Amino acid sequence: MSGVRRLSRIFITTMRYRLDEVLETMDDAHPVPGFLGGVLRYSPLRLLPRSKTSLARRLRLAIESLGPVFIKFGQILSTRRDLLPLDYAQELAKLQDDVPPFASAQAMQLVEESLGQKLQEVFARFDETPLASASVAQVHSASLLDGTEVVVKIIRPEIETVIQQDLKLLHSLARSAEKLSLDARRLHLIQVVEDYEFTIMNELNLKLEGANTSKLRRNFAGSELLYVPRVYWEHTREKVLVMERIYGTPVREVEILRSHGTDMKLLAERGVETFFTQVFNDNFFHADMHPGNIFIDITRPENPRYIAIDCAIMGSLTEEDQRYLAHNLLAFFNQDYKEVVRLHLESGWVPTDTNAVAFETVIREVCEPIFEKPLSEISFGYFLVTLFQTARAFNMEVQPQLVLLQKTLLNIEGVGRELYPDLNLWETAKPFMERWMADRLSPVAALQRMADHAPEILEALPRVPDLLINTDRELRLLRSALKSQKIALNELEKTLQSRQKNSRRIRLFGALLLLGGAGTMYGQTSTHNDPYLIAAIVAGIFLITR
Ligand SMILES: Nc1ncnc2c1ncn2[C@@H]1O[C@H](COP(=O)(O)OP(=O)(O)O)[C@@H](O)[C@H]1O
Ligand SMILES: [Mg+2]
Repeated sequence: MSGVRRLSRIFITTMRYRLDEVLETMDDAHPVPGFLGGVLRYSPLRLLPRSKTSLARRLRLAIESLGPVFIKFGQILSTRRDLLPLDYAQELAKLQDDVPPFASAQAMQLVEESLGQKLQEVFARFDETPLASASVAQVHSASLLDGTEVVVKIIRPEIETVIQQDLKLLHSLARSAEKLSLDARRLHLIQVVEDYEFTIMNELNLKLEGANTSKLRRNFAGSELLYVPRVYWEHTREKVLVMERIYGTPVREVEILRSHGTDMKLLAERGVETFFTQVFNDNFFHADMHPGNIFIDITRPENPRYIAIDCAIMGSLTEEDQRYLAHNLLAFFNQDYKEVVRLHLESGWVPTDTNAVAFETVIREVCEPIFEKPLSEISFGYFLVTLFQTARAFNMEVQPQLVLLQKTLLNIEGVGRELYPDLNLWETAKPFMERWMADRLSPVAALQRMADHAPEILEALPRVPDLLINTDRELRLLRSALKSQKIALNELEKTLQSRQKNSRRIRLFGALLLLGGAGTMYGQTSTHNDPYLIAAIVAGIFLITR
């Protein structure tokens, strides 16, 4: 579809759902200018009756009608609870992408083209009815020649072009919105679209997803917590991913899990443990942890194990972000808001001239109500949402990876509480953060870090004597350079002073000449208000007084 056609479709959708009403809620200081404003104001579509449905709901319906790329964007937006008003977040969370599957003949042809082989050369069986079909990819079950059961994930044909076109539109919509509306700027809409672009472009590359899957699998090899399917690299390309088929129970099926006698408490706690292991031990976390991507292996219900799929989006924190997270969560759970403020100030997370008292007041205001709930209802994710909101108001730049983590945490908590409503997140998570901090602070950790850098240190060792000799030489050079610079500076100062003196002398001489001349003229002239005379006196006085 051409750009113009899509643009007009968006325009018509906007009018059909009367989203133009958003404009009426906009601040008067930024009325919609120019052509767009005119079109919106005088469009005959405005004669359509106003809807009684809430604006948030209409926005959701409009997005649904615009297709998968917009739907996915809305879904992502819905998770930005730190930025979005609650009613919008809840409404957007309902977005469903019911995308019809594409023809299996086409799927099979795409696989053959990608692999450069006939299906029979790779698969003993290829099931034509897809297991699942979403906006970006479709999944078919199959078996390899040796009988291994696998799934084949295939990127939708032509989807890349559509995504690129829609992204362009989203970008220009976000740019206009930020220009026009304060709310859109507060939402950092352009940034949200950029994050989305990053996400969806990653999802288009199945080699990347394969690599993430393999890495996560390696990190949890032999673990009782999490299982990750194996990737068959020899059959994996950018648009086709072949991996081991898993047979878990979807995590949403709480009733099925219960009826099999699953230890729900253990399961919920293991969810939190798995997440914190990824964040603090491996520094590589699955960042798309919605229930559709989580399955449970209950072959031993007393020892349930998670299965994660769909590793397109992963997160990892810098050490600084890890520190931020661990320290703040600990301080928060000790209800030590002073500490939260001190951390922000001392680490320079907020500017040093921040009003500490005001900052603490706000932190206290937003955190206290969280603690009024029983421990089983306290949400880390919600705390982080609030903390980021507050810190932003005090000019802290919240790093995107931290936001990704906060979203994942909200998901994990949601899933955990769904499984076991009395889940005490804190008890499960605290040891991880304490261990992480102890590790950072201990002398053993310092030695360990040195050991980690041992190869570089060893490599540099033979150069140390040279370096020392050079350093000594360079220091001496530096000192003599400093000395000569000092001399040069002195010279410069002297020259400047003498120049100043000279210029004062010249001015004085000029003034004497002018005033002397004026005196002589005064003696000779009869009209004592001769303009030349007055000018000479003024100029003379000016030169003396300057
Ligand atoms: N390894 C697998 N084994 C069994 N089913 C799978 C596997 N991978 C994906 N599926 C099924 O396909 C669905 C979509 O796969 P997913 O990788 O989540 O794709 P998407 O990126 O479209 O969400 C999953 O929800 C699951 O039902
Ligand atoms: Mg998925």
